[in-house]
Amino acid sequence: MKRRSLIIGSAAALGLGWLLRPGEQGADHAPYFRDLGAALDSAQLAKPTLVVDRSRLLANIRTLCGHVDGRFNYRIVAKSLPSLPLLGAVMEASGSNRLMLFHQPFINQVAAQFPGADILLGKPMPVVAAHNFYRQFAGGDFNPSRQLRWLLDTPQRVAQYDALAQSLAQDMPVCFELDVGLHRGGVRTDEQLVQMLDLVTQSRHLSFSGFMGYEPHIVKMPVGSAEAYRDKAMAVYQHYLDVAKSHLGSRWPAEVLLNAGGSPTYQMYNAGSYPFNELAAGSCLVKPTDFDLPTLADHEAACYIATPVLKSLDTLEIPGIDLGAVQSLWDPNRARTFFTYGGYWKALPESPRGLVYNSLFGRSTNQEMLNGSRNIHLKPDDWVFLRPTQSEFVFLQFGDIAVYDGGSIAERWPVFAEEPA
Ligand SMILES: Cc1ncc(COP(=O)(O)O)c(C=O)c1O
Repeated sequence: MKRRSLIIGSAAALGLGWLLRPGEQGADHAPYFRDLGAALDSAQLAKPTLVVDRSRLLANIRTLCGHVDGRFNYRIVAKSLPSLPLLGAVMEASGSNRLMLFHQPFINQVAAQFPGADILLGKPMPVVAAHNFYRQFAGGDFNPSRQLRWLLDTPQRVAQYDALAQSLAQDMPVCFELDVGLHRGGVRTDEQLVQMLDLVTQSRHLSFSGFMGYEPHIVKMPVGSAEAYRDKAMAVYQHYLDVAKSHLGSRWPAEVLLNAGGSPTYQMYNAGSYPFNELAAGSCLVKPTDFDLPTLADHEAACYIATPVLKSLDTLEIPGIDLGAVQSLWDPNRARTFFTYGGYWKALPESPRGLVYNSLFGRSTNQEMLNGSRNIHLKPDDWVFLRPTQSEFVFLQFGDIAVYDGGSIAERWPVFAEEPA
């Protein structure tokens, strides 16, 4: 009797387990990706390629401007759109010449390419990096003493930049980084702020130009409302603004720059009044997967990695104790195997639908294994599309961006170079 119930129990457990198997997810490319693949083929492309969909990019810019325009100035976060022609397209469509930069060689490239740009640093740089900017600056219409604001975070750094400005006899507008709750550095006390303001006031070549207070944490907290964290961050911003205004009195800059925001948070300021006067954002214009957030629901994915399939197998085999057969028996989405040209990027498979990485086989930057169901009919030389999880570093890994527009690859856009040509 006992043995019988054991058999019945095991069979029931097996049956239940079978019912709990992952569902079939796979499907061949939807028309959007079939057309994109055809466009890449027509352009004779056959290597991992970063694609930007221009009409979706422009739609995202319109969406952003619809939220921001008129109420705040818009600053383009260049690190998240790391290509001069891409930045040029965003500047033209948004009407903004304000750029936020995070990397010294890119500052030189922007200054050379966009002489009308207004540049704010998004992070404090070693003073030697600032010196290297001036060393490599080839002159031209861009005027660093009016158009380039360094970001400073401590009295020590103010002193270092003052010494550099003295030695170069170079005027330098500077902004201060505020800690409005992210706790990634920046001004944290009134004393520190006053000390930094006094150092700038005493300096012959530095001038105080404004604040930057970045607050992405407000939409990422596990408990509490984003609105409550926003209000707390803005109260801190307002406090430092009040302290600085009353300390500087008539020396308060007439056209002060008060920066805040980023892609995840910029729509948190759709209504209400806030202490800043410009919002920064970049990633939401191409929307990598890290930006699939409720606050960016009206932005569309506009960037993909496209990579050719090298090999297509009807099974899943894993060397050694072959657990591939068990994996594919359990999960219909592991019935087939595809190896792609390159891989292991910061990216998630997007199309064909239902492709998955295989952690048992492992990841590869050379030939990445992807598994998919029998509903996926990829052949060698077909394309697989992935969505980057972030844009800033991923975009730099593929050479020129392929600009997809009107059903074809309309342009190629070089990405920023690590060393200026
Ligand atoms: C200072 C600062 N502002 C704004 C941003 C927002 O950039 P994005 O819109 O690409 O998220 C960042 C991103 O790291 C940042 O560091």
